[in-house]
Amino acid sequence: MIATHNYFTSSIGKKQIMALTGFGLIGFVLTHLAGNFFILVGPDAFNYYAYKLTSNPLIYVAEAVLAGMFIGHIVLAVLLKLQNMGARPQSYFTKVRTGRGETIASGTMPYTGLILMIFLILHLLNFKFGTEYYTVVDGVKMRDLYKTVIEYFANPLYVAWYVFAMLCLGLHTSHGFQSMFQTWGLNHKKYTPAIQTLSSAYGIFVALGFSGLAIYCYFQN
Ligand code: HEM
Repeated sequence: MIATHNYFTSSIGKKQIMALTGFGLIGFVLTHLAGNFFILVGPDAFNYYAYKLTSNPLIYVAEAVLAGMFIGHIVLAVLLKLQNMGARPQSYFTKVRTGRGETIASGTMPYTGLILMIFLILHLLNFKFGTEYYTVVDGVKMRDLYKTVIEYFANPLYVAWYVFAMLCLGLHTSHGFQSMFQTWGLNHKKYTPAIQTLSSAYGIFVALGFSGLAIYCYFQN
């Protein structure tokens, strides 16, 4: 009991759980992007995909886990930041732990994280809880999320906001991804450079993928 308590209050315990929740979020972002590519196929394909996903009863479990990961990740980030501010001159977020010194991505983690939190709240309000249009695909009535999304991106300011937020997402995840391996002590002379490359590739892919979709939606109007 005391050992568990110490683990959660210790800095390393928090970092390890942050890494674990971050890993889950990295996976979610990739599957969300893959699903969003149905927008390129057309309205029926995208709406049907979203309908299939949300009409599965397991969605409630998945959403609860997802919310837990987001909230856990954010709360621990704030706790670690506060802990580090009082404890030592070099913060958790700006450490030289990568062995490469501070990068733009590592140095901006708290800021890009904050922007992503704001992004997420607005995103859910605009899409998940946004205007509810309905359509019929193969005789089944379902939400016309395609229309909600296309209508939203008719405004170039919203497209610009998404491109900016996705740049933050790219920076945040490209550092977070490789930092995760360091936190779990998975360092290896041979594999660490490959992990760093994969991490950057992931960040660039998701930033370009989501931004590209927002721009594509703008041109559908
Ligand atoms: C072009 C960019 C994006 C588009 C078009 C998009 C579209 C959507 C849509 C239509 C929904 C509502 C799904 C539903 O209610 O069934 C949704 C939900 C959601 N999106 Fe996005 N999204 C984008 C980027 C992102 C990013 C970058 C993140 C995270 C960093 C994200 C996180 C979420 C979350 C957490 C949900 C709620 C999922 C759920 O409750 O099951 N989205 N998105």
